[in-house]
Amino acid sequence: MEFDVAFAVSFHNFACMQTAKSFRSLFATALFVVLTSTIFAAETNSSTLRRIATADGPRERLLLDFGWKFHLGNEWGAAISLAKAGSGSGPASRSFSDASWRTVNLPHDWAVELPFDQGADGSHGFKPVGPGFPANSVAWYRRTFELPEADAGKRLWLEFDGVFRDAEVFVNGWFIGHHESGYSSFHYDITDVANPGGQNVVAVKVDASQFEGWFYEGAGIYRHVWLVKTSPLAIAPDGLFVYSRFKNNVPGKKVEIHIQTRLLNSQTNSACARVRYEIISPEGKAIASDRKSTGLKPWAKRDVHSEISFRSPELWSPESPKLYKLVTTVESGGQIVDSKETVFGIRTVAFDANKGFLLNGQPYELKGTCNHQDMAGVGAALPDALQYFRIAKLKEMGCNAYRTSHNAPTPELLDACDRLGMLVMDENRLLGSDPANLERFKGQILRDRNHPSVAIWSICNEESRQGSADGGRVGALMQEFLKQLNPTRPVTAAESVGDDYAGLMSALEVRGWNYHIGQGIDNYHKEHPQQPEVGTEQGSTVSTRGIYANDKVRGYVGAYDENAPPWAHTAERWYSFFAVRPWLSGGFVWTGFDYRGEPTPYSWPCINSHFGILDTCGFPKDNFWYYQAWWTDKPVLHLLPHWNWPGLEGKNIDVWCYANCQQVELFLNGQSLGRQTITNYSHLHWAVKYAPGVLSAKGYTDGKVVAETKVETTGDPAAVQLTPACVAIRANGEDVNVITVSVSDAQHRIVPVASNLVHFTLSGPGKILGVGNGDPSCHELDVYIPQLATHSIPENTGWRWKQVPNIYDNRLAEFRTDFDDSSWDKTDVQSDNVQWNAEEQAVFRTKITVSESDLAAPALELCFGRIHNEGFIYVNGRRVGESNDPDVPASFDVKSFLHSGENTIAVGVANWGGPGGITKGMSLRIADHPILPEWKRSVFNGLAQILVQSTREPGEIQLTASADGLSPATVTIQSQPCAPRPLVP
Ligand code: GAL
Repeated sequence: MEFDVAFAVSFHNFACMQTAKSFRSLFATALFVVLTSTIFAAETNSSTLRRIATADGPRERLLLDFGWKFHLGNEWGAAISLAKAGSGSGPASRSFSDASWRTVNLPHDWAVELPFDQGADGSHGFKPVGPGFPANSVAWYRRTFELPEADAGKRLWLEFDGVFRDAEVFVNGWFIGHHESGYSSFHYDITDVANPGGQNVVAVKVDASQFEGWFYEGAGIYRHVWLVKTSPLAIAPDGLFVYSRFKNNVPGKKVEIHIQTRLLNSQTNSACARVRYEIISPEGKAIASDRKSTGLKPWAKRDVHSEISFRSPELWSPESPKLYKLVTTVESGGQIVDSKETVFGIRTVAFDANKGFLLNGQPYELKGTCNHQDMAGVGAALPDALQYFRIAKLKEMGCNAYRTSHNAPTPELLDACDRLGMLVMDENRLLGSDPANLERFKGQILRDRNHPSVAIWSICNEESRQGSADGGRVGALMQEFLKQLNPTRPVTAAESVGDDYAGLMSALEVRGWNYHIGQGIDNYHKEHPQQPEVGTEQGSTVSTRGIYANDKVRGYVGAYDENAPPWAHTAERWYSFFAVRPWLSGGFVWTGFDYRGEPTPYSWPCINSHFGILDTCGFPKDNFWYYQAWWTDKPVLHLLPHWNWPGLEGKNIDVWCYANCQQVELFLNGQSLGRQTITNYSHLHWAVKYAPGVLSAKGYTDGKVVAETKVETTGDPAAVQLTPACVAIRANGEDVNVITVSVSDAQHRIVPVASNLVHFTLSGPGKILGVGNGDPSCHELDVYIPQLATHSIPENTGWRWKQVPNIYDNRLAEFRTDFDDSSWDKTDVQSDNVQWNAEEQAVFRTKITVSESDLAAPALELCFGRIHNEGFIYVNGRRVGESNDPDVPASFDVKSFLHSGENTIAVGVANWGGPGGITKGMSLRIADHPILPEWKRSVFNGLAQILVQSTREPGEIQLTASADGLSPATVTIQSQPCAPRPLVP
């Protein structure tokens, strides 16, 4: 029951983030109350549902994230044999040993593990991966698992949420599929090549040699992988579409729920299927149902349509994200063959050329941010908990819409948006009506169309053909294609041209505006009064958290809302223009969070962007309060800069204030510096002669004080502080606690200029996932990985060999330990001068001595340079594996086959031509014990972040942070027992 578990995870994390927030703000507390009540209601749903769907068909969706083996590099060339099927070689082969490889859990991004390199591409974050770095750009992942006997007869699917990029997937040596895009999800039916009742190996070659975008993209299997099991007659992957409709697209008393189910009959018999639907309200009550019957031919698909109406629906919105569930049950031959739960929301979206965006029939200003998918500490590989963390942060600012620039997001981001309440502009990567692009786009549409958060599709961003006639034709076709699959949502594109109606601009129903503001927009609106418009990409101030002067050398930009690239605008400039033009629908700021790469306006030493309203960790920069002031009803009063300016006594400091009251009075050390009146969407400004102490402000509305704030001059750094987002996490191996590391003075005030290096140690059932500090020029590592090393015992000269008639007989005496080979000819397996004929077979034998301490190593592997052409390897008389590609090295995990003292190695080799035999040597590779990393990170302007993830063991996790000359801090996090989501053991 995938929903229950995913929901439990999201509930926990959201509650956890909200708990932390509630200490900080009234607004957050209110939000917490509203949303947790929704969530508690939905928790009730789950149990009700379990009863309703006692039904549970044979469908299982198992997480396949844990225990992958990972190797950076490809020493095996092409793994696909174009000559014979099912014979993937090197890591793609079944008996290849990955025992000495590093164990990783998904999601995993290897780019974030690499050091920064000034010679690498800056727009991708100066990581040495991609064009020009072949050694770091291809990697292998392998996962071995057992399938129960009972899986025989089921359909088995592998689902990848996303791999960056160019993934070749093998199962049990069979090539299964090649998926190039680094952003789209994909799935394969692996039934025919799976091995129920035995061992199975999934191997994935990932090739990140090519970029897809111009921003940090990560590398690896950076999203979840799933193993899905269904009966042969089942709902097809992404085969369920549920959406609501109201008369005139405005919510009324009665809602129509349209359901389309694609059934898949993967068997040689035709079948009759009965599909039963049950709709569960946000409170967990079954409120409506329907049933439909259909027949299916052998190996056929069939769509079943249904329409269910009911009254007084509860509408979904960011402010009240009410979620319904559809339980679909498929019966055939008197048995339940499938059941599936689909979360959906009831709401309408539309654009009106004069009123702007409409949510549930009402004008609704889009207070949006554009975002890339990476975060400090983890790169592109975010566990779900961090999706919830980021969405909750944006909501705290008043943001209600998220643009997934410039690619399909991970589905778990959309889950977070559904549950926490965030509208999504779901963006496709590329403009293109070619079949491959349309197929990829289709996958994204089918996957995402049930999410109530997904409100608008964007077909592309700033394409160079956007203004051309051909660009327009391609866009029109994509729009039509989309509407056929998903008729209920509007379509736009992020367009970066001015008052221009050619190409895409006239082809798409909604005009998207990237950056252009001013007279051009007003003219366009007059010239095209029928076309709705939206600010697809606006802003964007460049700023560095806690820095108040531009510093080209260190790569910092002052955090006053003053700096924007020439093509863009400050927050105040774009927003004061948009806020008073409701027909523009609001807009999406570039960007919510800083991201790796695009270090505008500087380059090295900068390695990440300055566009974020929050930094890469999610620490707010000052503009956060500008937006919060104008995007929320919460009283906001914020002063900048900090008040630690030794040496500037008596000099003027620019003091800015963001507030949404009517007037603000500023005080320095208790003395009034005057009261000023606020103009909408603007800030206040004073020049204040610096004196250390307290700079404070009072905000007034209708003459009454409605808000107060202060900034204080702090003392020197005295202590490290650890502030976890929550006190407990779930012991499911996935949950994450986001812990703020701060350096404070003796009075526990965060020192806004501190830069101390902090060391971390952790004990208990948890692990450190990553560290960050939001400093755009920091080259410290975000991830410390264990150091793995191996040493080898070569064995080349003790070999003897003899031709035999049939090496395929595994009872051959020549494979046994006690066989006497002393009369055989000697051979050197390093050279390739063995002369024998094609089609002949031989056994090669040697002995290898292993000590007790060798046997205690984490891994022992027999490594062969080459075996020509087919080889069967026996250790002490037991078969360890086979090799069938003479062009690549072969390795075998022999730890459990060896004993201390002398061991016998025998290899049966069939020669199909060429040199034959064993060449390029053989050795026993012994893995050294890994050296575990020490974790550390400097604070940047007083703050850093550490991400701690649970294991699947409950218990107490203790994290200690220490820094030279400062008192250390220790925090205890409870990792609470919970049922992990169903997973592949
Ligand atoms: C936009 C583009 C974004 C980003 C931004 C930087 O034109 O759409 O992806 O590159 O510029 O200012």
